[in-house]
Amino acid sequence: MQNNNIVWHHATVTRARREQQNQHHSAVLWFTGLSGAGKSTLAHIVEESLFQQHCRTFVLDGDNVRHGLCKDLGFSDADRIENIRRVGEISKLFVEAGAIVLTAFISPFRSDRQKVRELVGKENFIEIYCNCSLEMCEQRDVKGLYQKARKGEIKHFTGISSPYEIPEQPDLMVNTATISVEESRDQVLAFLKQKNLLK
Ligand code: ADX
Repeated sequence: MQNNNIVWHHATVTRARREQQNQHHSAVLWFTGLSGAGKSTLAHIVEESLFQQHCRTFVLDGDNVRHGLCKDLGFSDADRIENIRRVGEISKLFVEAGAIVLTAFISPFRSDRQKVRELVGKENFIEIYCNCSLEMCEQRDVKGLYQKARKGEIKHFTGISSPYEIPEQPDLMVNTATISVEESRDQVLAFLKQKNLLK
C-alpha cells in the first residue's frame, strides 16, 4: 500500500559521513544455506573479528528475528518471502546507518535474495553461500529438527519438504562442511579485504 501523504525526510548525518567516521564502508553480508549449514556460527565469528578491528557491525539471525519482528510468520513460501523482505528492509537501514550487517537466514528462494540485492544496491550486497550438503546437515542435526521433519512433525522443512535454491553465482562460496569455522572466517575476511571493504 502506498501513502502519498508521506514525505521522505533527509538526514544531515549521511551515510557518507558515517562511513567516513567509521573508516569503513557499510555493507550487507548475506549468509544463505540450509538449516545447520553454519550460517549463524560463521556470521558471528566474522562479526567478532570485524568488531575487534573497530568496525560497526550487527548480526541479524533467523531464529532471533523470528522471536520478535517476524514472530507472526511461519514457514510457508509466502511467510518466508515476507520474512526475507522485512530483513532486506532492515538491512537497508543498517547500511544507511553505516554498519556492516551480517544476516543469517536460510533465504531459500533465489528471487528473494535477488530482490534484497536490488533493494540495498548490488554494490552493497555480498551473498555468501554456506555450502553444506543436506546429508551433512542432517547428520549433524544440531537442533534435532531434521529428525522431527523426517517423522513428519515439522511441515515445510527446508531440504526435506520445502525447496532450497542453491545460489548460481554467489559472491563467495564457503564449504562449511569440509573446512573449519576458523578457515571459513578467514576466507570471508580475505574476501572483504580484497573488495576493499575494510580499512
Ligand atoms: S527462512 O527460510 O525464512 O529464511 P529462517 O532462516 O528465518 O528461514 O529460519 C530458519 C530457522 O528456523 C532454522 O534454522 C530452524 O532452526 C528453524 N525452523 C523451524 N521450522 C523450520 C522449517 N520448517 N524449515 C526451516 N527451518 C525451520
